[in-house]
Amino acid sequence: MKKYAVILAAGKGTRMKTELPKCAYPLIRKPMIAYIVENIRISHVLDQIIVVVGHKREVIQEILGDTVEYAVQTEQLGTGHAVMMAKDLVTDPDGDTMILPGDMPLVDDIVIEKVWKEHLERRHDMTVVTTHLDDPSGYGRIIRNESGYLDAIVEHHEATLGQRAIDEINTGLYVVKNHLLFDALSRITNENSKHEYYLTDIVNILKNDGRVIGTYNLKESYKAMGVNDLYALSVAEAKLRLKINRHHMLNGVAMINPETITIGHNVIIEENVVILPNTFITGNSVIRRGAQIGPNTEIHESTIGERVVCRHSLVYNSIVHEDTTVGPFAHLRDGANIGPHNRIGNFVEVKKSSTGEHTKASHLAYIGDATCGSRVNFGCGAVTVNYDGKQKYQTFIGDDVFIGCNVNLIAPIRIEDDSFIAAGSTLTQNVPEGSLAIARAYQVNKPNYMMERNGKSKSDKKSE
Ligand code: UD1
Ligand code: CA
Repeated sequence: MKKYAVILAAGKGTRMKTELPKCAYPLIRKPMIAYIVENIRISHVLDQIIVVVGHKREVIQEILGDTVEYAVQTEQLGTGHAVMMAKDLVTDPDGDTMILPGDMPLVDDIVIEKVWKEHLERRHDMTVVTTHLDDPSGYGRIIRNESGYLDAIVEHHEATLGQRAIDEINTGLYVVKNHLLFDALSRITNENSKHEYYLTDIVNILKNDGRVIGTYNLKESYKAMGVNDLYALSVAEAKLRLKINRHHMLNGVAMINPETITIGHNVIIEENVVILPNTFITGNSVIRRGAQIGPNTEIHESTIGERVVCRHSLVYNSIVHEDTTVGPFAHLRDGANIGPHNRIGNFVEVKKSSTGEHTKASHLAYIGDATCGSRVNFGCGAVTVNYDGKQKYQTFIGDDVFIGCNVNLIAPIRIEDDSFIAAGSTLTQNVPEGSLAIARAYQVNKPNYMMERNGKSKSDKKSE
């Protein structure tokens, strides 16, 4: 028997009041829908993932690619109608389907696994996941009969004042037997205040058919949060941030002011790392043991080596090897690969370049499209001139090269080992091994120039 997941992500997200389709909104730089798909995968209980797309479906399809199957809902006629669109893909009538709203990013693999198991073990025809909220407004309310069994789900809009006082809500997560699901869906109507086909109406239909409907009460209610507007998005992000940070702190990562620190879901941080305030580490970044990151630092899709100190800096798609210091105010981007024991200091930008060991660019330098060896010293203001307005060119710098202050290396150019570039030089030619290169105008001093210009002699000046 096949085990399906159907994720509903066709809605516009009217309450977001912005352009992006709701399920594409990011929490910590990753779209909500991507968390749901990832957590379903990690739970290992489901075989096939179907995502119902509609409004701006290309945005959702761009995020998930061909990792899932798609059903298209051209008109958004309600959650029941959305599930109906997946009918042709749910081919095994004897299987079960878990339905998940695409705006429920905090539901994790543990909940998915537990709900699925409970549904099968208790032999339910349908399982509805509920939870209790201090403020249930906006959610569908769980109506129980005198014996405590689920009687109906009433949407907030349709609920009487008495029903609105109920604090047990429908999380929007269900598991249903396939043949019962699609049969019940074919019988729902849109006779309600929103003129939509509500998925929740199948509860009443199945109940009247005498089917076994069970509920699963989720204790950690925050995991059921539905993100309908930008405020809810910020609350969900804060919850996720806290959960991720706690996990890292318990693993030996020290965080100063953790509420200002944002760590992505897929980041790996080893023990003995210290993270200082206002720091963002996202994407598939890895921080090795003993590193000190922050304050005010952004690291994305990068690997930071052991004992690296990285302060007040930006590091994107780059690698920094062990014992190197980065910053304050450095910018590493697009494939910078900084060797061990380097120093990349204030206002230094490195792009698509690599360095060997013990290389230093302590202040005000631009290193772009360059391959640099070990023990290279970039003086203050040294620049690889890699762009002529049309094309980018490569710079090669060997080992033990000293580049003086305010040097321009006009690429393509090769500076061989053990060479010395005099400060203020603008080099257009390669420098052979062991050479001194000076490419600057000779200095001319014109004695008494200023006094002559002002029409005064030296003795006049003294008598003044
Ligand atoms: C829904 C439930 C409500 C529950 C709440 C939990 C219904 C009728 N109501 O309400 O009982 O408490 O979730 O968060 O199901 N979607 C489509 N196509 C559509 C309409 C919606 O794909 O035609 C998708 C949306 O993109 C969204 C999900 O379904 O991801 C839920 O829709 P939404 O409008 O957010 O439902 P709620 O009003 O929150
Ligand atoms: Ca919702």
